[in-house]
Amino acid sequence: MNEFNRWVTPLNRRSSDPTPQGGTIEYEDFPATIDATGPMLYTLFQERWKEVQLGHVVEGSVLELELSEPPRLCVIYDGYLTVATQNWHMHLCLEEHLGGPHCKTPEELRKQRLVSRGALYRRLNAEGEPRSWGIQFWNGAGERMMNLFLPNPYLGEDEDLLPEGKPQLEKLGLYEQLREIYVLENEPIPFTENPLKRPYISVCRSSRCYPSRNWKPVFEALQSAVDEAELDVTVMTSGCLEVCKLGPVVFYSGDRTWYTRVKPEIARQIVSEHLVNGQKLVENVYPPA
Ligand code: FES
Repeated sequence: MNEFNRWVTPLNRRSSDPTPQGGTIEYEDFPATIDATGPMLYTLFQERWKEVQLGHVVEGSVLELELSEPPRLCVIYDGYLTVATQNWHMHLCLEEHLGGPHCKTPEELRKQRLVSRGALYRRLNAEGEPRSWGIQFWNGAGERMMNLFLPNPYLGEDEDLLPEGKPQLEKLGLYEQLREIYVLENEPIPFTENPLKRPYISVCRSSRCYPSRNWKPVFEALQSAVDEAELDVTVMTSGCLEVCKLGPVVFYSGDRTWYTRVKPEIARQIVSEHLVNGQKLVENVYPPA
């Protein structure tokens, strides 16, 4: 595993686009690598979720979604970050999406789906005054992906426009902090490891997981074995893990391994032999060698 570098190498890439209203959008790029996007998005969705909104802005369509409570899920599976709330979820491709246990995603599509550019932006009006702040992502085909909207000092409660001349400039703190870390390299990333790369082990709880949908005893066995071994591995359940047969199906993110036909005893062995000693249980690995 590559060592995590807390200092971002600045790209020094600035650009601007005119807006149809006579204004400008100024961009400052940051590296679109998982070592930068992982900590940044973890901060925004797990620590500062009250302050961000996500969505997209293209001509003819605007989408803005708020988080009213912390996301119940913020995890990377097969390259895609999933953030899920009680009401909606989103996916963003931060690493190559290989396409499940059989690596079915064609090479070209892997490149197209991957975030290839990220930038902090400021949207300026025709008078050159900044009026909104955020983050924009682009995919490998150069298409705009989602936006994150950062706190706006001109907006009060319920998106109410504040009286002219009374902006709450302290709201720019989050934008400034991200800029110092990810654009200017004036501050280190505030984590000692990439928080979105922490390993987890997950069992599929889908009722489609034929023939055995009995995932609960497997989950409990994994949890108690991980606790006993005092491992820094999150035990969780998930939706479909793209095997859908020979269940219960288990996925370990640390080295991208799928297991099938996992009974509680096998679950305990996965922890003691694979997670602790690095020896996979070859008879249960999927696809079989
Ligand atoms: S439904 Fe369980 S792996 Fe697909």
